[in-house]
Amino acid sequence: MATKYVEKKGKFFVPTKAAKEESLAPQDIYKRAKADRVKLWGELARDGLSWAKPWSKTYEQTSNGFGWFVGGKLNLCYNAVDRHLNNPDQTAIIFVPEDVNEKPQYISYFELYKQVNQAAALLKEKGVKKGDVVAIYLPMIPEALIFMLACARIGAIHSVVFSAFSADALKTRIEDGGAKVLVTANYYSRKGKKVELEKDADKAITGMQVTKIVVDRAKSGKMFEGKADVIVKPEVMESEDIALLLYTSGTTGKPKGVMHAVGGYTVQAYYTSRFVFNLKPGEVMWCTADIGWITGHTYACYGPLLNGATTVIFEGLPNHPTPDRFMQIIEQQKVNVFYTAPTALRMFALEGSDYAKKYKMESLKILGSVGEPIDEKTWMWFFDNIGKGRCPVIDTYWQTETGSAVIMSLPGHGPFIPTYAAVTFPGIEFDVFDEKGKKVPNGKEGILMEKPPYSPALIRGVWKNEERYKKYFVGKLYNAEDNAIMDKNGRFRILGRADDVIKVAGHRLSTAEIEDAIDGLKGVVEAVIVGKNDALRGVVPVAFVKTKGDITEEQVVGKVIERIGPIAKPAEVYFVEDIPKTRSGKMMRRVLRALLHGEDAGNIMTLINPECVNKIKAQVEAKHPELKNVKPVDSKAAPVGKKEDKKK
Ligand code: PRX
Repeated sequence: MATKYVEKKGKFFVPTKAAKEESLAPQDIYKRAKADRVKLWGELARDGLSWAKPWSKTYEQTSNGFGWFVGGKLNLCYNAVDRHLNNPDQTAIIFVPEDVNEKPQYISYFELYKQVNQAAALLKEKGVKKGDVVAIYLPMIPEALIFMLACARIGAIHSVVFSAFSADALKTRIEDGGAKVLVTANYYSRKGKKVELEKDADKAITGMQVTKIVVDRAKSGKMFEGKADVIVKPEVMESEDIALLLYTSGTTGKPKGVMHAVGGYTVQAYYTSRFVFNLKPGEVMWCTADIGWITGHTYACYGPLLNGATTVIFEGLPNHPTPDRFMQIIEQQKVNVFYTAPTALRMFALEGSDYAKKYKMESLKILGSVGEPIDEKTWMWFFDNIGKGRCPVIDTYWQTETGSAVIMSLPGHGPFIPTYAAVTFPGIEFDVFDEKGKKVPNGKEGILMEKPPYSPALIRGVWKNEERYKKYFVGKLYNAEDNAIMDKNGRFRILGRADDVIKVAGHRLSTAEIEDAIDGLKGVVEAVIVGKNDALRGVVPVAFVKTKGDITEEQVVGKVIERIGPIAKPAEVYFVEDIPKTRSGKMMRRVLRALLHGEDAGNIMTLINPECVNKIKAQVEAKHPELKNVKPVDSKAAPVGKKEDKKK
């Protein structure tokens, strides 16, 4: 019988004796963190990783920033690959192609070492030096990891761009990062069809001085086969050197390049994988996130490899060709840790529970959720049907900016409570504040912020944009821009973004970026994007567009796909006479959001154009007659919301 790691105690789920015994996070870890968290991180970093030179200062806070393990030297690739060569046959990567007829590949640490060295030599041959930016636009194939590790080996900064982003989106990111080399693939497989990625890559770099490296998908995992072995010495990096750049969406139309430092990122990726997923050398972790997102970076690549574990890289979609594909992979590859997003789980749950009964999935130990709030029904479905009531569901909260998971329940500590992301990782301290940085009493909603000493992997800067970086801080607090409540027991519930970022199927998108894309269409006067709740994808973008002239829905959707990619396409488009605005010109997303959800829009007397609201309401109801019961908007009631929306 498979081991049970969780049991019910009153209203909660708690770790069993077996889970406590197996726990890699010592039982006194929170106590140690409370006593002195800088000291704790210092001890963890020293014991867990290989340093070329010890640091002189564990944590340093200056007027314009902070640093961890200052003066220390290390190499991320060395820690993730070379360090495990004493166990050379251990599998590092399991590559599962989308086509069920194409055999999975098992790449050992020794094989990975050889390939990473080849890739590093190739990058050097193309002129890449320490500190240079390399753009990686690859699907979920081993080379995505191999080239990331190769960059880390030679001290280059990788900027991975999600392969489903459009050529335009790739171009913006290459230009901003100043990448001189782009690594891409000729194609990949999506639902049985070839997606010709290289064509988009070519379009993106037309007219630019960028050298292209193309991986032949047909040879993936074997790209360097037959080549004479080479060894590229790992570059000794300062702890505070920049390891990677990853573009993410904010409140403006332009994505921002989030920078992470080598030392802090390596330490936190290592320890969160070890303590949150209890990942032991040789265990198999499948993080379903694409490598183009931070979750893919930290838990499909660096975290498992830093721990000498095995990472599953799956090219396809988890429900293709059949809805149980992901369960087959869990069984076939004996996955121990399965980490995915609520959207995927809602999609699986839609198929019912019967199909899950065919699979025992006895290898599973820990289940994880990330990217958006997970509702109780989905949590329970995951727990019952995938974990068979044996495995804890760990709801992990974090962001591109935090580099690794920061709020969760540890598997040997618990408790595991649906809809609670629980407590901060030992050594990190978040709390709930108002917009000015004043502590909000427990039980009241506020904004999640981190107190210094900041966590080692916290964002070190925004690429070429110091001003934007400063905006992350409210006094001495790092502002995560998420609404949250801390209950009386000190446990967090994360409620969703406090800014104009939306999470569509767990993907982070900026409403301003989508609006800018639509604004780019000739004949559009202005556009506003509002997130609408969706049973499957969490939130979907809905566009309200004011035009002069004839514009079709297809044109609007087409423009968004062209500028960003299919993930950002509006689910609904309303052509409106006017967009509700305040006297100061701020667009009232709040009013539109209320109309979309059939809620009372409240008072609209602060608007300059209140008459447009009932017209839009009628348009929404024409599409959704089920929303008709709500009373017409009353222009004399209390003012709408406290916070106004973006100024146009
Ligand atoms: O709003 C929060 C949500 O995802 C945002 C970060 O998105 P991104 O930078 O793309 O990183 C995603 C993966 C770490 C957060 O600001 N979010 C992430 N995890 C959770 C969550 N919301 C609720 N619960 C979570 N567990």
